[in-house]
Order: sequence, then C-alpha cells, then structure tokens
Amino acid sequence: MEKKWWHNKIAYQIYPKSFCDSNGDGIGDLPGIISKLDYLKDLGVDILWISPVYVSPLADQGYDIADYQQIDPRFGTMEDMDRLIKEAKARGLHLLMDLVVNHCSDEHIWFKKACEDPEGKYGAYFYLKKKSPDGSLPTNWRSYFGGPAWDRLGDTDWYYFHAFHKKQPDLNWENPELREEIYKMMNWWLDKGLDGFRVDAIINIKKPLPFRNYPADRADGLCDLGSVMDRAQGIGEFLREMRDRTFAPHDSFSVGEVFNIKDSQLNDFMGPDGYFSSIFDFSQMEMGKSIKGWYDCKEPRPEDYKNCCFKSQKKAERIGFFSNIIENHDEPRGVSYYLPEYARSEKGKKLLAAMYFMLRGIPFIYQGQELGMENIAFESMKEVDDVSTIEEYRVAREAGLSEEESLRAVNLLSRDNTRTPFQWNDGPEAGFTTGKPWLRVNPNYRRINAADQEQRGGSVLSFYKELIRLRKEERLEEAAVYGKTEPVLTEERDIMAYFRRGQGCDLLVIGNFRSEPAKVALEELKKRQVKLLLTNGETFSHEGGQITLEPLQAVILECV
Ligand code: GLC
Ligand code: CA
Repeated sequence: MEKKWWHNKIAYQIYPKSFCDSNGDGIGDLPGIISKLDYLKDLGVDILWISPVYVSPLADQGYDIADYQQIDPRFGTMEDMDRLIKEAKARGLHLLMDLVVNHCSDEHIWFKKACEDPEGKYGAYFYLKKKSPDGSLPTNWRSYFGGPAWDRLGDTDWYYFHAFHKKQPDLNWENPELREEIYKMMNWWLDKGLDGFRVDAIINIKKPLPFRNYPADRADGLCDLGSVMDRAQGIGEFLREMRDRTFAPHDSFSVGEVFNIKDSQLNDFMGPDGYFSSIFDFSQMEMGKSIKGWYDCKEPRPEDYKNCCFKSQKKAERIGFFSNIIENHDEPRGVSYYLPEYARSEKGKKLLAAMYFMLRGIPFIYQGQELGMENIAFESMKEVDDVSTIEEYRVAREAGLSEEESLRAVNLLSRDNTRTPFQWNDGPEAGFTTGKPWLRVNPNYRRINAADQEQRGGSVLSFYKELIRLRKEERLEEAAVYGKTEPVLTEERDIMAYFRRGQGCDLLVIGNFRSEPAKVALEELKKRQVKLLLTNGETFSHEGGQITLEPLQAVILECV
C-alpha cells in the first residue's frame, strides 16, 4: 500500500459552538479554539476537523450554510480563520473544515434568487417540482428530520426538495454549473491553506431518478429517505470529478460521512484511488438502529460492539483506512452508549478507548471524549435544542410511549449529548464561558474536567496521551498503523482481543469487558517474548501463554 501523509495521524473533532467561548456571549468561537491549540498539541493529535463556522442561521447548527466563503460573526471573522490556519500550521497541526454541499441554507443567495425566478439560472441549482395532478407532493419521501421532504418555494407554486430540515434545500448536483461553483469554492479554501475537508452527508448528492413514490413504511404514508437514496445509481461520476478537481491536486485529506455503503462500493470510496482518503466507519452506531425511530433502538452489548468492529476491520483490510470513532456531534457519548452501566468508570472508559484506538484506521477523538465526558440526562424537552431530538420525541409519543418513556428514549441518543459545553475546569460554567452557555453544561463538570485530569496521573486524559504516544512510536508503526488486524479469542464472551501484525513485531490488544477477572490462554504467546506497553489496570501477569485480566482491564502488549 502506498503510504500517505495522513495514515499515521490522529484526528480531533472540534464542535466550535461548544468548545471555548472567548467573549462571554455563551457561544464558542474561533479565538476560543486558537487559545486552546496548545492544549491540543499537548494531547498529541495531528489533524483538527472543525464543524461548520460559515455564515448560517443555525437551523441545524451551521450545517445550513448561507455563505460558504464568510465566517459567521458569532464564530468570529475571516481574520480569525486566517489566524487559526496560521497558528495551527505553526504547531504542525493540519486543519480540516466541514464541507456541506448536499444542501445549503434557504437564506443562501442562490435559494433567494431561485424563489424569485424558479425557472431561471438559480432555480436549476435546486430540485424544484410541481405538485402531482392529484394535488399530492412530488414524492412521498420522508426527510431525515421528519415530515415530508418537500416544501413550498416562497409563494410560488413550485416545491423544493430537502433531505434534512426545511431550511436546508438540496443542491442539484445534476447541474454542471452548480458543481463548478462548488469546486471553485473548495479550491479557494484549499489554496488558503486548509489541509482538507470532512465531507458531510455526501451519499445524498445522487438521487434515484426519475423522482417517484415508493411504498410507505409508516402510518404517515411516507417512506424512509435512506432506503430511497440506496437506489441511486452513478454517484461515482460526481465524486470522481470532485476528487480530481479539488482534493487530488492539493494532496489533501478528505474523510467522507458515508452511510449505508455497500461492500462492493468500498474500494471506490476509500481504496488506493478512492474518492476520499478515508470514510467513517459508522457500523457500530448503525447496528442497533430501527427504521421506526429512536424509541425502538437497541442498546449494544460489548459482544455486539466487538463483532461489529471486527467485521469492519475485515472489510477494509485489503482496501484502505476507515476513520474510527466512538462518538461525534451526531451521536451520544461513546462511554454512555457502548459501556454497560457497571463499566462507566474511568477504568471502563480507558478500556473502550484502547479497544477502538488500536484498530487499523485513523482514530478520531471528539472533543471531551479524551476526558471521558458523558451523556447529559435532560429533565425535560425544554432543555433540548437539537431538531432531530425534538422530532424523535414526537415520533416516540405518536407511537404511544408516555412522556417519561419518550424522554428516556431520546435521552440515550440525543445529538445534544455531545454538544454540551466542553468541561475545562470546575469553575462557573466549567470554564467554557464567562456568560450563559447556549446549551446547559453537564452538571458532572466538577467531577469530569480538563484541569483536574491534566494534573492527575491515571486520568482518562493521560491514558489518551499514552495511546497517542504509542501509536506514534516509530518502532511500532508497521504494526500500529499498517498492521493487519487479526481477532483472537473470539469465542470468549466479553473479551475483545486482536493482534496487529507488524513485521516481526506484533501488537496484542486485549480488553476484558466483564465485571469479573478473566483468565485467557493464547498458545502463540508461549513462543513469543511479551512486553507490556500500556494498561489501565493495577497489575499484569502472564505465564505459559495464560493471561490474567482484572475486571475492565485493557492491555497492549508487544510480541517479538
Ligand atoms: C450530517 C451532519 C449533521 C447534519 C446533517 C445535515 O449528518 O453531521 O450534523 O445535521 O449532516 O447537514
Ligand atoms: Ca463567543
């Protein structure tokens, strides 16, 4: 495999609105990020992805962009952005922005012009259709955030398509003129010094044509958009063109947010000549989901988690690098989701960290994950901001769940869980702002915060630093970065164990998700010299190929 500059990197996602507020308005901003670059450098990460900071009405927290080439004043100015690029570079950090081009905002000038003249140049930037002769909407597709995916275009008799919120009209990628505009904008950013993009919702840019109805799957008479998009053919033409016109000439890093990918498409998406450098592996998050809604989702158990990771590792083995995550701004906190209740301690959090971090791929850390930040238990829907949580609550109520049950269901999966402010210290508002934060701080900030963990050996934060250091050791690179993942002890319930095969030097990663000690035996170890590189436990013992693990212990071993 040809080596690329991003293969041995660790990435970190910043959700600007909730990271650090520099001016007391309760909203995190670019100067706030700049003030924390040394913290990030010290953590040891290499690539920073910042979620959208472009001009936006924030109907979907910036994923609704009204101007791709301006910074929203709430986040700062273009000078701040230039300074961020410069300051990041000075520290050897690579910067990615979020590329949201499946849709823009209904406040974008293109959309406003389309409203004025649906049949003109800008009307063709969107998917506009008229109602069917029988008076029904152009299709019966349900938007991802609920309700029909069509809304009336201004006061015309046209309707526009939106896969997400009604303030996020989809852009018409079939139109070459639109595609040119997008590439121009991307290159403008890349020329400014960005190192690449995280590419939002990209699987949706190709619609199954012609637009038509599909069988309804809920009482609302609508059908799920994910299954609709599954039928689309030919997305490769757009993505190949985008790569050749933007990423490739800049040797930039691109990571796609791609759901529902078929195994047969994996090579095209992230193989050696893939459309993207990498794509996120969302399979662990997808496994418990239900088409009925969040209320019907199943919580994963450690066995499910392990099997799912191994399946993905196998798929990617001969193809390329997945980007591995346990959480992001659209998901609950990984430690609150994947760990059984008895394991939600610092020890358990480190266990989960070690298990996903050492997999083959590019590890991404979402802000606060390195502290073991947890879900927030919302006491009422009044505290919730996220559009999709509000919709899922409605769906749960409609399905007959009580208010309390519905709240519990959305609490587990709410996107606001990861959007609560970063917990910097145990002072007012966790040191995030001197004002009133836009979203409530998790009340556990006195117990979980960066200031405490920075000076406390054995903290989750220091464990993440160790993991990062280990992955970067040159001696271990063939195993830790490029090594094949070989699951072992797969029959041992709640034990997750795998080799990363290097050249003569292998890593062995073993985690015990049980609440009791475990004894496991690996014949191979009898013939190898074994050295402990890292553990979250008190002791480590092995003898004659037998390893004894404490409850929730993870060990990373070097075998020569
Ligand atoms: C992606 C983003 C999510 C957003 C959606 C629409 O899934 O990660 O936050 O709501 O796209 O842009
Ligand atoms: Ca601010």
